[in-house]
Amino acid sequence: MTETVVLTRLNGVLEIRLNRPEKKNALTRDMYDAMASAFRQIDADPTLRCGLLTGTGDTFTSGNDIADFQARASGNGESSASQFLPTISSMQKPLVAAVNGAAIGVGTTMLMHCDLIVAARSARFVMPFTNLGLVPEAGSSLLFPRLLGMQRAGALLLLGEPLDAPTAQAWGFVNRLVEDDELSHVARDIAQRLASLPPQAVRETKRLIRHGPAELADRMQLELELFRERLISPEAAEAFRAFMEKRKPDFSGFA
Ligand code: COA
Repeated sequence: MTETVVLTRLNGVLEIRLNRPEKKNALTRDMYDAMASAFRQIDADPTLRCGLLTGTGDTFTSGNDIADFQARASGNGESSASQFLPTISSMQKPLVAAVNGAAIGVGTTMLMHCDLIVAARSARFVMPFTNLGLVPEAGSSLLFPRLLGMQRAGALLLLGEPLDAPTAQAWGFVNRLVEDDELSHVARDIAQRLASLPPQAVRETKRLIRHGPAELADRMQLELELFRERLISPEAAEAFRAFMEKRKPDFSGFA
């Protein structure tokens, strides 16, 4: 049977590819579970430094499988994403997304939990929750207004208006906009760059960005404490030594 989520290891990066192109990569419970398990694997395996999430074919994902929504509406089971969403939002290591076409519903909201987003020119982001009689999930009603402002979030979440890739980049939702045939190459390059950095410094930085205290004074205090710890860390020692010795640092031995 064809795997609906394909995992490939590439030098410290675990690539997670949604692979149900005949259904536009619509997400089944098995696919959510496979993604959540891959995220846990990345965090648990010291030889993995980063995840890369993408899709097969012309669609990143068409979101939750609508047949599954129907089954749940008729009382068959809890949300398929109930394990997936907390796992993606609490991942310690960085996650890069390579968006190859439409990202619909949770296909877009999951991206708010990715650290860097590369979009193909054909990418488009749609959250048709109200159109389906639903409401936003994955923290998107908090994170989109925070990132884009209330009015733009209103167009996306109230009206379900599609956001094209150039506008998504102009609005700061995606980091890089590339031609479709460059997507994998650029996204893999970014993931490899993340994988070659000092891993603990990367994890601590992600934690500060995503889960640091909201108050400025508290944030500065925590940064100061972490900075002091980092200054005497083996990772920093290697970085400083490499600078003095005019060579590239090697963080491959750190976990
Ligand atoms: N759930 C279940 N099946 C889906 C699906 C989904 N979310 N999205 C697509 N499919 C299925 C279609 O039913 C179709 O199946 P079939 O070949 O057995 O008829 C197949 O995937 C191809 O989709 P199709 O609509 O023919 O492709 P398209 O290129 O014309 O359109 C989309 C692609 C993604 C724009 C369109 O399928 C779509 O809008 N899907 C629903 C998205 C959605 O509302 N998701 C829920 C968000 S909360």
